[in-house]
Amino acid sequence: MCSYCGCQSITVVGRFMAEHDEIINATGEMVRAAASGDPERVRETAQVVARLLSPHTHSEEVGLFSVMREQEEFTEHIDTLCGEHSSLDVLLEAVAGGAFERAPEFEKELRTHIDKEDNGLFPAAAMSLDGTDWERVDATTPEAQEAITDGRGHLLHSHSHGPDHHHPHP
Ligand SMILES: [Fe+2]
Repeated sequence: MCSYCGCQSITVVGRFMAEHDEIINATGEMVRAAASGDPERVRETAQVVARLLSPHTHSEEVGLFSVMREQEEFTEHIDTLCGEHSSLDVLLEAVAGGAFERAPEFEKELRTHIDKEDNGLFPAAAMSLDGTDWERVDATTPEAQEAITDGRGHLLHSHSHGPDHHHPHP
């Protein structure tokens, strides 16, 4: 885990890592739904995954990734990660569209991709970007996604105040 380099203490990276956990949890729901063979439930859970995944990858790409890829040593790797964002979208759409047997494949690809970010790119960013770079990352990264409701007005997620934290408030 990248607790070694402390990159999680960088606000934007901490947020991305917290979002990764949520996306993985939501994907678990989808994989279980797919295994149970309930099409309606698969569509619902896939939609939850998509609503978490797509603003997340967009934020990475327009913020951190665009600043990082200016450094030649990272350009190719960033392009690979962006390609994986697209293929994950395609795979998720396939699952939602009825290819339930591909749900475990999506989960595997997602976990591999997230591992590359959490344990590769983010620690590299912590070591390679300077203060000015991080200011630019902060300035170009869209706000964490606004509250998401389930369509009936029930709050499912709210990221507007940064990553979830579970300690009791005084
Ligand atoms: Fe990510």
